[in-house]
Amino acid sequence: MRSGWLTTGEEAARFESEFARFVGVRHALALNSATAGLHLALEALGVGPGSAVITTPYTFAATAEVIRYLGADPLFVDICRDTLNIDPAGIERAIERCRKDGRRVSAAVPVHIAGLPCDMEAIGQLCGVSRVPVVEDAAHAFPVRTGGRFAGTLGAAGVFSFYATKSITTGEGGMVATDSDEIARRIRVMRLHGIDRDIWDRYTSAGASWKYDVVAPGYKYNLTDIAAAMGRVQLKKAERFMERRRSLARRYIDAFAELGFLTLPPDSLEHGWHLFIVRINEEALSIGRDAFIEELRRRGIGASVHFIPLHLMTYYRETYGFRPEDFPVSLACSGTCISLPLSASLSDADAGRVMEAVVDIGARNRR
Ligand SMILES: Cc1ncc(COP(=O)(O)O)c(C=O)c1O
Repeated sequence: MRSGWLTTGEEAARFESEFARFVGVRHALALNSATAGLHLALEALGVGPGSAVITTPYTFAATAEVIRYLGADPLFVDICRDTLNIDPAGIERAIERCRKDGRRVSAAVPVHIAGLPCDMEAIGQLCGVSRVPVVEDAAHAFPVRTGGRFAGTLGAAGVFSFYATKSITTGEGGMVATDSDEIARRIRVMRLHGIDRDIWDRYTSAGASWKYDVVAPGYKYNLTDIAAAMGRVQLKKAERFMERRRSLARRYIDAFAELGFLTLPPDSLEHGWHLFIVRINEEALSIGRDAFIEELRRRGIGASVHFIPLHLMTYYRETYGFRPEDFPVSLACSGTCISLPLSASLSDADAGRVMEAVVDIGARNRR
């Protein structure tokens, strides 16, 4: 605030270079949301009307709406029951179907749900063979390592979110990571009105000038210096926050492992634990998922549902004629899942209350 420079400037540039170094990519582009990042990454790859973009219905609205912004169609592929991540075998079938129908698949957007990395080796191989560029939706996955690299750095581009609930936050904010000079150049232009030089450069470089050119109808997606300053401090704490999430997830897993009425998330060392999603086993309990959440709420514990699949949402249902059973695994998981409270700032005492409540609600409502 005291620097006098509030919007995109030196802080944003520093945040970008520190983030790029952290995850090990050539370019990091700071934006005012991950939604903006997904939009611009797909735009930079030339996704456009008439083409299909493979993604999962088991995600937040942002993942698919950006495909529609560009006039392309989401091609939903169902998830794996154990990971809640997109099924690589389904991607293979979708690509094959498009090939037969003569439809262009312009990109694939796997989502690392809850912070658990997708099978990027299989996805990379399948998409590589068919020349389908991959944009990772890593909104839930920072800092998450898989196969020796960071999730979000394994495709043509990866997109991170700094929304208020995410592992590091700037209130609102996002980052695109890419090794491609071409994608980075296009995003730099499109994030600020299609102007060929950013504001900071215009006012501060040696050849300071009022001259600029608009080379495309761009967007207003830049991250402010106020937000970037927060991001730089958060970035330093990212590993510590992750350790805390991991240790809380460990306690939940140990407490719930033998209960029998919960299916737990995969106990993977790669899991980033943005969310702790359990599923209730309906045959073991006399109450359903909604009643379980209500019971938690009555005890002062806020739980949520991730996700109601997109193919059930009015817009996608009416636009594409989806039926609930079109994506049976997504449908089944969304009907039984509960996200329990988990964040780096959750105290041991509060985690203890959550565990006690879950065990007690289960014990009182066993079939
Ligand atoms: C899977 C997924 N992708 C993208 C986003 C969009 O992130 P943002 O709010 O930073 O635009 C979210 C937001 O929660 C998300 O859950």
